Amino acid sequence: MNKINGKTEVIGVLGHPIEHTLSPVIHNTVSEATGRNAVYVPFHVYDEASKNAISEQAEIEALVRGAYNLGIKGLNVTVPYKSAVIPYLADIDPLAERIGAVNTLVRTDKGYKGYNTDMPGLYMALQKRGIVIEGSTAVVLGAGGAARAVIAMLLNYGASRVYLVNRTFEKAVQLSDEMNKLFADVIGSRSGVIPISVDNIDSVEVSVSDSSLDKAVAESGYLMFQCTSLGLKAGDGLLVDDDELYKRASYGFDLVYNPAETPFTKKLKSLGIKCDNGLLMLLYQGIIAYQYWTETEIGSDVVEKAKMNLCKAVYGDNLILTGYMGAGKTTVGHALAEKLGMDYIDIDAYIVEKEGRSIPEIFKEGGEEAFRNIETEAIRELGAKTYNTVIATGGGAVLRDENAKLLKEMGRVFYLYASPEETFTRVKGDTGRPLLDSDSEQQLKDKIIDMIRVRYHAYMRTADVRIDTDGKDVEKISEEIISQFK
Ligand code: ATR
Repeated sequence: MNKINGKTEVIGVLGHPIEHTLSPVIHNTVSEATGRNAVYVPFHVYDEASKNAISEQAEIEALVRGAYNLGIKGLNVTVPYKSAVIPYLADIDPLAERIGAVNTLVRTDKGYKGYNTDMPGLYMALQKRGIVIEGSTAVVLGAGGAARAVIAMLLNYGASRVYLVNRTFEKAVQLSDEMNKLFADVIGSRSGVIPISVDNIDSVEVSVSDSSLDKAVAESGYLMFQCTSLGLKAGDGLLVDDDELYKRASYGFDLVYNPAETPFTKKLKSLGIKCDNGLLMLLYQGIIAYQYWTETEIGSDVVEKAKMNLCKAVYGDNLILTGYMGAGKTTVGHALAEKLGMDYIDIDAYIVEKEGRSIPEIFKEGGEEAFRNIETEAIRELGAKTYNTVIATGGGAVLRDENAKLLKEMGRVFYLYASPEETFTRVKGDTGRPLLDSDSEQQLKDKIIDMIRVRYHAYMRTADVRIDTDGKDVEKISEEIISQFK
């Protein structure tokens, strides 16, 4: 986190409840990565006596004024205040006004201006995935608050026809009517929203003829949005369990992001259809809000960093194992992955697969320097795409300053320490380790002692935790690591 001083800008999110918010992860990552002196904090807004949300108009007014008077640079607003704050804003963006909900307050000379970045956030996420909304046909599953935002996005950005499927048909009818009225001017002569009951999905047509644009889209299928709460709980099923509905989709988006895979995303993937979960929407609504507050453009490398930290916060951090060869990184790594339900990657194995050569071959052809360059690149690549993974490093990976920094950013680093004697017992007779080629046992022993002495500080400076492994079995070592990782 940046150093807080008298010039630190304060941004935050207000809501009730608020403790599970992921927004601080997004915004503080962006501030840190861009070097901005700003801090993003949660504001738990509730009535102390009743422990409920505040609801008196005068209190909400005082809240918005108070935030402004405190000089708060910008705010996110979440449940249950997204509509309640609107009367106390100096200005409001037309789209937010139309749907009657703001999630972002931007400081102006006169007070806060309200925006809703949920819809543009989803739109931006879809754009990044190459999905075209204009002229599309969409199928929305669910008729609650999430469906409302998705339908508003679809209509606002020019979807041609939206089928709304819901368990309770009356709610689908109600929401369709409401949205068709709200966006009547945008819909024009297009179809708008059409309510469908779950046992009438046969009437969902891929092909629509509202405009010439539709034809191209129709050929590839419709876009599907999963907006029910199904998928949040283990054992949840699909709203409509009929492949016919899913087969005709060209793309699917599930607003649920935890767990990462839901019955909906699994179904589409099993049919070979591209799909994403709601994490991208969460990410981009935040990025757009940050851009409003700071009037800056956030570059894609920073967005990727925020996404990685978000993934780590939602799905789990990486657990990195370092240590001299023979320290037990592979054995312990596999055991940990199994126990914690995480993936496992061995950086050396990753390099061998990527290069199509064995490590002794890489050493033979280019020397240690060439290998270390490849290794740094591999660490960088993995850091940009892995979370919830146990990662075993090569024995010498920590030697370079650059690697040490990358590994620390990648996750929580555990140094598996073994004494020279123990290391000797573990690695003698092993031929796949070029740095240990020796003529005699004594020479091997000396090499090990020497290497451990030289590398010890490199390991220690990279490590968050040192684990002594001498005389301990895999079970015991794993337990120690898990107790310090959680
Ligand atoms: P949100 O604001 O997140 O969209 P919501 O307003 O509670 O949440 O809406 C939940 C949606 O999930 C609704 O469409 C709901 O269907 P009903 O309108 O029929 O209640 C849907 N939903 C929740 N549990 C469901 C279940 N077990 N089967 C089918 N649909 C379900």
